[in-house]
Amino acid sequence: MTASKRIVLSSDHAAIDLRQAVAAHVTEKGWEVEDIGPVTTESTHYPLHGKAAAEKVASGECTLGIILCGTGQGIMMAANKVPGIRCGVCSDTFSARMIRQHNDANILSIGARVVGEGLALDIVDAFLDAEFEGGRHATRVEMIEG
Ligand code: RB5
Repeated sequence: MTASKRIVLSSDHAAIDLRQAVAAHVTEKGWEVEDIGPVTTESTHYPLHGKAAAEKVASGECTLGIILCGTGQGIMMAANKVPGIRCGVCSDTFSARMIRQHNDANILSIGARVVGEGLALDIVDAFLDAEFEGGRHATRVEMIEG
């Protein structure tokens, strides 16, 4: 298994079931999964889990990440505070593909209270099956990084 096939998963309490479904799905697709929890549905704080997943990607330990909370928004905000992280919330497959192709997003965020499991797994496929196109998009991504 190469490092390029290692993905970190994380969520808060609102997205435990969907995170487990995503874990099974990405494993089936051939990815090595590092699921950093949490395990129980006890109420927790999404910033902790967004930051922890983002640090796995920023350090190079994992090349991509998928994070989830109720809306996908709060955990995305926390992840994007970590330097080198480009995370977008997606509720549709077009956006999930485009954040890889144009924005070189390295983390996908999903709202477990927004999309059902079937759509969520299609969103995951769109994200993981797309590749960054580089070129003019690389210039713009460099501008994001400052
Ligand atoms: C938890 O109730 C909820 O606020 C959280 O999962 C998320 O939606 C925050 O953005």
